[in-house]
Amino acid sequence: MGQISRILIESSSDLVKMKTATKMYLSVILSTLCIMFYQYQLSRANFLTLQGNEVSGGINSMATIDDQNICNNLKKSAELASLPPLYIITPTYKRPEQLAEITRLGYTLKHVPNVLWLVIEDAAVPNGLVTRQLERIGVPFEHLIAPMPERFKKRVVKPRGVSNRNRGLAWIRKNATNGVFYFADDDNTYDLEIFNQMRYTKKVSMWPVGLVTKFGLSTPIVRNGTVSGFYDGWIGGRRYPVDMAGFAVNVNFFLKRPKAIMPYHAGYEEDKFLRSLGPLNNTEIELLASNCTEILTWHTQTKKNPLAQPLDLRKYNGTNLVNLQKLIV
Ligand code: UGA
Ligand code: MN
Repeated sequence: MGQISRILIESSSDLVKMKTATKMYLSVILSTLCIMFYQYQLSRANFLTLQGNEVSGGINSMATIDDQNICNNLKKSAELASLPPLYIITPTYKRPEQLAEITRLGYTLKHVPNVLWLVIEDAAVPNGLVTRQLERIGVPFEHLIAPMPERFKKRVVKPRGVSNRNRGLAWIRKNATNGVFYFADDDNTYDLEIFNQMRYTKKVSMWPVGLVTKFGLSTPIVRNGTVSGFYDGWIGGRRYPVDMAGFAVNVNFFLKRPKAIMPYHAGYEEDKFLRSLGPLNNTEIELLASNCTEILTWHTQTKKNPLAQPLDLRKYNGTNLVNLQKLIV
């Protein structure tokens, strides 16, 4: 019995010795592998950094830079969300150019943070193609309708976009509490910089607009830092001879003026709307675009196109043209 147990004890202590030795060998091999792997990563990092534009290299440094990027992006979106909101009021109406205008303006607005686009159609029912395009573009929007009253439709010179803009103003009265609004016709051209600047309007801000009237522009005249008059090819007895694309208004300032409204008076829409915002002294007008020395908005006009002729279904049924015809306004 004693011998057997001794043999057993000896063999088990051999086993322990062997296990310890194996463990040691394994640890050495593992450590060597780890060191080799680490060195490989280091050399790869250096290689990638030397290779060029890539800042990140090995797995470790990539993880750190990814974390930093996420952090920076979060910070950025928090900053953007805290910007005063911008409400862009755009009148639009059914015509061959409508979808093209909406698309062009929409992708401009896509670069503007914290914006709500109020797209208001001069129509009895919203155009489904416009809704679809607004969804595709992806700028936050409200799609509203406000048909021009029948009595104005018969006039030779119609007050264009007035019912729409007043609908936009009613939406703001009901829903907005702060920020700034701007009337952006669907066919004009806007430098992104003007949105950065108009966002901080405290009362009413103004700036030059290119391509208006025979003077080629419309702008406040600035002397000693304040408005001393207006330069516009057509004054027409207006107190504010400015273009619709050349001013923005603070939401709170507007809300404190419950009677402010745009009149159905062709040619006098801007003037009478601005007057309805009174009292407003010329010295209170905030001058943007480097004290009105730059042009950041243009009153562009799109060439009018004739209505498309209906598709000859006898000839083209069963082709792509059947579908394309449905996309034409
Ligand atoms: C100029 C001014 O810039 C407009 O703000 C003003 O409303 C217009 O004159 C006017 O005095 O009646 P203009 O380029 O001549 O604008 O006019 P449009 O571009 O044809 O219309 C201005 C806006 O109203 C556009 O956004 C347009 O889509 C919209 N509109 C036009 C309608 O909603 N309904 C219409 O029947 C015509
Ligand atoms: Mn226009």
